[in-house]
Amino acid sequence: MPFLIDDIISAQKELDRFRSTFHKHKNSVDHERFIFPFLCGSYFTYRKIDVERIASIAKTVSKDPTYLDIGCGYGDFLEKVRQYLPNAEGMEKSAEMFFKLGRYKPDYIKIGDAYNEIEKKYDVIFVGWMEPGVDYRDKIAKKTEVIITTFDKGGQCGINGGCEFEGFGYERVASWITPSWIDVNTELMNRYYSKISDETVKSLSELRGAHNLWYVYSKPKYKEGIKEKLRRQEKNQVDLPYPHEKILDECGFEVGELLRVSPSSQSSPGLWKINFDI
Ligand SMILES: C[S@@+](CC[C@H](N)C(=O)[O-])C[C@H]1O[C@@H](n2cnc3c(N)ncnc32)[C@H](O)[C@@H]1O
Repeated sequence: MPFLIDDIISAQKELDRFRSTFHKHKNSVDHERFIFPFLCGSYFTYRKIDVERIASIAKTVSKDPTYLDIGCGYGDFLEKVRQYLPNAEGMEKSAEMFFKLGRYKPDYIKIGDAYNEIEKKYDVIFVGWMEPGVDYRDKIAKKTEVIITTFDKGGQCGINGGCEFEGFGYERVASWITPSWIDVNTELMNRYYSKISDETVKSLSELRGAHNLWYVYSKPKYKEGIKEKLRRQEKNQVDLPYPHEKILDECGFEVGELLRVSPSSQSSPGLWKINFDI
């Protein structure tokens, strides 16, 4: 179900209320991005390493790559990507979410529907969202060499949860998982905004298990080059992580952390660890 503008307006009112109530709370600004992800952050919980991975993947295709973020919302993630890929653009279907809330729309975000308005070709297309029941994978496939998707395990993506791009001329290159903003949100609410004991907070944290999956697909000729770049990059330390990453660390969502609940996570490499496809 797509957002209605009235839902966004109500969320903005809740955000204003949160700000006036908790403005003295240490770190409340960094908490906002996980409590009000659409308005203050992103629906996926990222670190600088995600952005650096995307930039190095794009630079495998071209020295000065073009990039499109479909369904970029207010562009929080896109803005970070642009620090590495200055040509990066966004496409967002809803014009009213900018003008009815008085939010600035930068020129690099175009209003349009990816279903029929991807006009030119891009080196990389990032698909962070596809409405359930809507499937424009064939349209994307005509417009790019590399596709990066992220979606939650619940599968909001396309018809029958289809975010896979094999069958459209791409091969899967690599994947990794990041925490779900819902788990981070729940942890923050339990720890800092509810009156429950530390022991209960700890036992509740063991119930987490939702996560986001990030998949990289490319045309076969780029596959090995992308893997090599990602492998090299995995060895480098990120300088100056984003300020919000300290919240992830303190809430137990460190790089390499294993998700405890899901049985499949026993064999998973842990949060943010890259799994390479053959
Ligand atoms: C769940 S929000 C995610 C926004 C942002 N990527 C984030 O992480 O916060 C999905 C966004 O995709 C936009 N959207 C949905 N279908 C679209 C389409 N066909 N073309 C372009 N944008 C679309 C919606 O208007 C909404 O802003």
